[in-house]
Amino acid sequence: MASRIRYNADATLGIPGAPQVDQIEGALLAARDEMFGDVELLQPGSTIPDEKVPLDAGFINLPSELLAAHGSDFENSQLGRIEATASELRSEVDRVLFLGIGGSYMGARALFEALLNPYHNELSTEQRKGVPRYYFQGNNLDNDETASLLELLTARENDPADFQDRWGLVVISKSGGTLETAVAFRIFRDALERFYGDDDAPRRFVVPITGETGKLRDICNAKKYDRVFPIPDNVGGRFSIFTPVGLLPAAIMGLDVKRLLEGAADVTEQLRTGSLGDDPVLDYVATCHLTEVKQGLDIRVLSTWGSRLEALGLWYDQLLAESLGKQEQGATPLTVVNTRDLHSRGQQHQEGRRDKLITNVIVESSSTTPLGVPQSDFDQDNLNRLGDKTIPTLLEAAIAGTNQAYADEVRPTADIVLPRLDEYAIGQVLQMLMLATVLEGRLIGINPYGQPGVEAYKKNMTAILNKSPS
Ligand code: PA5
Repeated sequence: MASRIRYNADATLGIPGAPQVDQIEGALLAARDEMFGDVELLQPGSTIPDEKVPLDAGFINLPSELLAAHGSDFENSQLGRIEATASELRSEVDRVLFLGIGGSYMGARALFEALLNPYHNELSTEQRKGVPRYYFQGNNLDNDETASLLELLTARENDPADFQDRWGLVVISKSGGTLETAVAFRIFRDALERFYGDDDAPRRFVVPITGETGKLRDICNAKKYDRVFPIPDNVGGRFSIFTPVGLLPAAIMGLDVKRLLEGAADVTEQLRTGSLGDDPVLDYVATCHLTEVKQGLDIRVLSTWGSRLEALGLWYDQLLAESLGKQEQGATPLTVVNTRDLHSRGQQHQEGRRDKLITNVIVESSSTTPLGVPQSDFDQDNLNRLGDKTIPTLLEAAIAGTNQAYADEVRPTADIVLPRLDEYAIGQVLQMLMLATVLEGRLIGINPYGQPGVEAYKKNMTAILNKSPS
């Protein structure tokens, strides 16, 4: 039996005057029914009511659907194709560049940071066991970063015949029209074609992931790329981590894709029949919602304990902000990495405005051997007293001490506890947060899908570009 992630809101609920979650049980269970009912509306023959459009609920059952398809026809299943492409790419190139932005970028980055060696790119090919080095671009308009990466990948001394210099490119865009990614794709595609200098290489070394229609799909057809992966229409960008958008990068990284999906599928099943008090999704939404409406805590701090979780936090920032930040509603997400940020934001969280719910993300056991504090003849730093302690013990003390400091000031905290950082636990927490975000949207009457507000900057930018001579 795989270990489950836990959600513990005791610290929040133990605070005098804190709202009791059972006040919200009926409304929450109705929102859950609506959320699962939305999946049925996507079936052929069903009609989606106008007020539900857009409806991107396809992500909800996707993990179990993919696992089932894989179980019945391994080779032809999407997972089978993803694994095959990943292993081909791994044997062909030593560097992979991922181009994408928002939901087409942040999930893969979260997986990379949480599950690979933090110094992965610095390791030799042997140390990386054939897993390529990774680069992310197309997520900004940053000339310096783009130019530097271009130089690194195509330096004159790089030799396309040398495995360690060979690179491939995965371009990810559901709409196929996002300017940041499209411009980066042109630049790096052009560079890749010149680097290899033959017509065949780009077809092998470029792998697009895109929707069924759009400009990128048109380029795929024109260029006749060997391998193109689809993004289902009914799965929105920030909910797409369990489509090829997240799964192909995960497979190229050598991660256990099935375990990721199993974690996600298990969380979904648990929610389907779970009850308040023993289900992490229901409990998390109840705590977040009640502390917001009853106590005015509309800043949601995701306090990650460990640098490897920072990208997960940034992925969640996007998920919450784009899903619920509508109609002048929606809590504001903020990711911090502790203990690092105790020395920057900690002051404000301890004594600033009372508008924050702090949710810790805690990993119970580290993936590497715990490091002790070495004894020294030079004890001027007074660290010999910690001789029997390890870094994980120090971290535990920091977490307990911080929670205690907040509780002493009647500042609520809650914990999401992961037994360890592995594919199963990460699959669980990603799906937990996606389900929680949709559930909360249904609870407060906000459509969690779509991001109409993002169009405003794009429209203005296009108008400016169309007007101004360069
Ligand atoms: O959640 C979303 O849908 C967005 O954040 C998109 O992922 C982002 O805008 C990128 O879009 P696309 O994949 O179409 O390039």
